[in-house]
Amino acid sequence: MKFFIDTAGLAEIKEAAGYGFLDGVTTNPTLLAREKVRDADEHIRQICALTPGPVSAEVTALDASGMAEEGRRLAALAPNVVIKLPLTMPGLAACRILRAAGIAVNATLVFSAVQALLAAKSGAAYVSPFVGRLDENGTDGMRLVEEILGIYRNYGYNTEVIVASIRHPQHVLRAALAGAHICTIPFAVLSKLASHPLTDKGLETFLADWKKNAG
Ligand code: E4P
Repeated sequence: MKFFIDTAGLAEIKEAAGYGFLDGVTTNPTLLAREKVRDADEHIRQICALTPGPVSAEVTALDASGMAEEGRRLAALAPNVVIKLPLTMPGLAACRILRAAGIAVNATLVFSAVQALLAAKSGAAYVSPFVGRLDENGTDGMRLVEEILGIYRNYGYNTEVIVASIRHPQHVLRAALAGAHICTIPFAVLSKLASHPLTDKGLETFLADWKKNAG
């Protein structure tokens, strides 16, 4: 399973690269605003220079032609830019336009399996179901991921599922058990994935016993 990091923070991206867990990056307007980015294009270029993997940059237009025009501009920033389009009818139309121009699309803000079906039918390279936000609204977000993967397997769609809106390591575990292609993981969750109290305790005991024996 590929690990993308879900941040626009350059320091977090660099640290994730240092862990060896950086197959790509996803950003969105909120994540860019959080970094108080003044020149978004330059910031995306800097992110793209930190990884050879796909870097998702989201459009802010709402109409199909505006999205397509913004997508073309963003795609020209670097060869590994992927264009994020919201799962709306204009977004699906823009997806088809950008797909025809050879530009990869990540269909985002996906909350139903039917939306994911439309993304695949529109040629999206990636689809991003937001599992954490579904959990927070009383439904099982990971069940949606399982439904999407089942539909894509039924029809042989090549669209890759990026499990997004991840809140804790359990989301990563269930994504792996379901066979999701990618998890896009906030740095706070990524840095917790290797931690387990019994590992810490076991290591402490090993070293204490070793020191005791070494006298
Ligand atoms: C990733 O592509 C999404 O934009 C992101 O995971 C959304 O996460 P949030 O629900 O924490 O905003």
